[in-house]
Amino acid sequence: MSKYPLGQVVVFGGTGSIGEAIVRRFLKLGSNVTSVSRGAIEERQREKLKNECDVSRLKQVFDDVTCPSDMDHMASNYQSRPLISDIIYAVGDCPPGGFDAEVATPLTDEETSQRMLKTFKRHVTGLCNVVSSFHQYIQPGGCIVVIGSAITRLTTETCPDWLFAGHYAAAIAAQAEYVKWLRMNDPNLREKSILVHRIAPVAVDTVFHKGCEKQPPAMLTLESVAERVFEATQSKVVDDCEMVPAPPRKD
Ligand SMILES: NC(=O)c1ccc[n+]([C@@H]2O[C@H](COP(=O)([O-])OP(=O)(O)OC[C@H]3O[C@@H](n4cnc5c(N)ncnc54)[C@H](OP(=O)(O)O)[C@@H]3O)[C@@H](O)[C@H]2O)c1
Repeated sequence: MSKYPLGQVVVFGGTGSIGEAIVRRFLKLGSNVTSVSRGAIEERQREKLKNECDVSRLKQVFDDVTCPSDMDHMASNYQSRPLISDIIYAVGDCPPGGFDAEVATPLTDEETSQRMLKTFKRHVTGLCNVVSSFHQYIQPGGCIVVIGSAITRLTTETCPDWLFAGHYAAAIAAQAEYVKWLRMNDPNLREKSILVHRIAPVAVDTVFHKGCEKQPPAMLTLESVAERVFEATQSKVVDDCEMVPAPPRKD
């Protein structure tokens, strides 16, 4: 039986391009949605979504996932609230037109260690903080969906020679490994049958790629990623997928 429209969904990175598409999808399903980010203005997201969804079921929280005490404090509010059905982790840093700059620094550059640290904090430490603070407030049979990236599928043969995004790929690979171990051997998640899904899209049609010189060969729509996330939340088995656009039809 579907969990919706009764779900209590928390979207970390809920004001981002992908996160907001997910927030919209779940609001339209009738879920209560909490959108977590550090800085956006509450009215802006409500204002944007109010013509499409019932924004009275949207709550915005401003916290930093890389700060364990922020996460503990936020999670403690769930002591007196209905348990969470789904946690979605869509934290990232994909600013408008940012793709060219993001992929242009070789790993041997002197600034790489700082970039690496920030990227690991965002994709690995933040997720780890969320899971350790919130797992006790997820309902039995609930789930965590992590938005990864299909960048890790690139090989020496398939990687374009201008793409120096190794710091990002390394963090995303570490995130995927962390997710694998959560699934394999975490007694707290296993006891409550909480599934950890991972959806790893290729490039998504977001502002990140707008106006950039380097354009991905194909992009996924935001709606397709949000739909795939919803499907994952309904799955009775672990969903781990690389999402690529369907090839063009030949008729
Ligand atoms: N865009 C793509 O083409 C694409 C493709 C494949 C995978 N992905 C992955 O999908 C995820 C989301 O991408 P996106 O394009 O939606 O990114 P985005 O538009 O930059 O959104 C990132 C979201 O994360 C929040 N955030 C960042 N740092 C945070 C922190 N420390 N604590 C709490 N919230 C934080 C941001 O809000 P604040 O800055 O206000 O905190 C924002 O809501 C990322 O992991 C990205 O790598 C993206």
